[in-house]
Amino acid sequence: MIDLTNYKCRKGKPIGLPYQGSKKKVSKRLFQFFLDNHHDFTFYDIFAGGLAMTAEAIIHNIPVKANIYDNHIVMILDYLYSDKYNMFDVLASREKFIQTRNKENKNGLDYAIMLINSFGNNFKNYLYNAEISNLKYSVAVEILEKYGTGKDYKQTDIYKRNENKLFSSDTKEKHKIIQSLSQLQQLSQLQQLSQLQQIIITSKEYRDIKINDKKAVVYLDPPYWGCNFNGYNSIDFYEFVAWVKTIKARFIYISHYNNSLLDKHFGEPHIIFPKSKSTLQSGTSKNNKFECVYRIKSVYANYNDNNNQISLFDYETASS
Ligand SMILES: C[S@@+](CC[C@H](N)C(=O)[O-])C[C@H]1O[C@@H](n2cnc3c(N)ncnc32)[C@H](O)[C@@H]1O
Repeated sequence: MIDLTNYKCRKGKPIGLPYQGSKKKVSKRLFQFFLDNHHDFTFYDIFAGGLAMTAEAIIHNIPVKANIYDNHIVMILDYLYSDKYNMFDVLASREKFIQTRNKENKNGLDYAIMLINSFGNNFKNYLYNAEISNLKYSVAVEILEKYGTGKDYKQTDIYKRNENKLFSSDTKEKHKIIQSLSQLQQLSQLQQLSQLQQIIITSKEYRDIKINDKKAVVYLDPPYWGCNFNGYNSIDFYEFVAWVKTIKARFIYISHYNNSLLDKHFGEPHIIFPKSKSTLQSGTSKNNKFECVYRIKSVYANYNDNNNQISLFDYETASS
């Protein structure tokens, strides 16, 4: 097992939508591992969700085929890639959020509003509780108006001036402190994503995807079994395993927490991130669950794999 905790990778923040189950915590290091172990490959991101891994492929100029099953995300991306993206339209007060959520026919902007302004990006509940929401919203608007970006908002005079008022002394509210004005940062992430070169995305059920490609390095990040996701439904484990066995590629990688069923079918994990623990509710105990990646050698594995690769990027020891 290779521990990628301190793996060297590109500088800068990970990119991708704020999304439940996003791989942003590990995407830079994991994609760098793919770069270091495979030459001249096409990256297949079949459960692309919030695009964290696909974004890395684009940044590194690796051809990518991304599949996003979640239609709301596809609509948000269409909106982001139109020339209509505007942070002020996406930033929403509690009232605007509720109005949008109740709309019958929603468009990409509506779903972007629901994603960015919802608690835990669950599309459902407004980010802040009723007492504090107006103040938080108006401080966020003021920061955007003055600085034009939500990046590093904690350094702004407006934030510092309001900091004490932004948090109630209520202990329940205290654990939310880290999320603070998190939607501001997320708006900047949307902007970064909208600036990436556009790619063609399919939107299919994974079982309907056939892969037979001598250049394919396939990355699978399915809904985790035994976890309560709120956002999307689980898939059948045995159907998934049967489908994986139909793939003809160079290598197949599967992200999951360490899982005895996966161990049984694919051997022990090839890559581990022991410090990336679950923040999601697990069906059983969540203490000993951490991010792993299983690796399966497929029919087209060849000399182009496992070579060292020279990259033009600057490197850092990952800390994201
Ligand atoms: C763990 S998330 C992937 C997160 C993504 N890698 C990222 O970094 O944002 C799992 C994804 O699988 C998708 N999914 C669920 N059922 C699916 C199915 N039957 N076929 C294809 N994708 C599915 C969900 O919509 C969700 O986006």
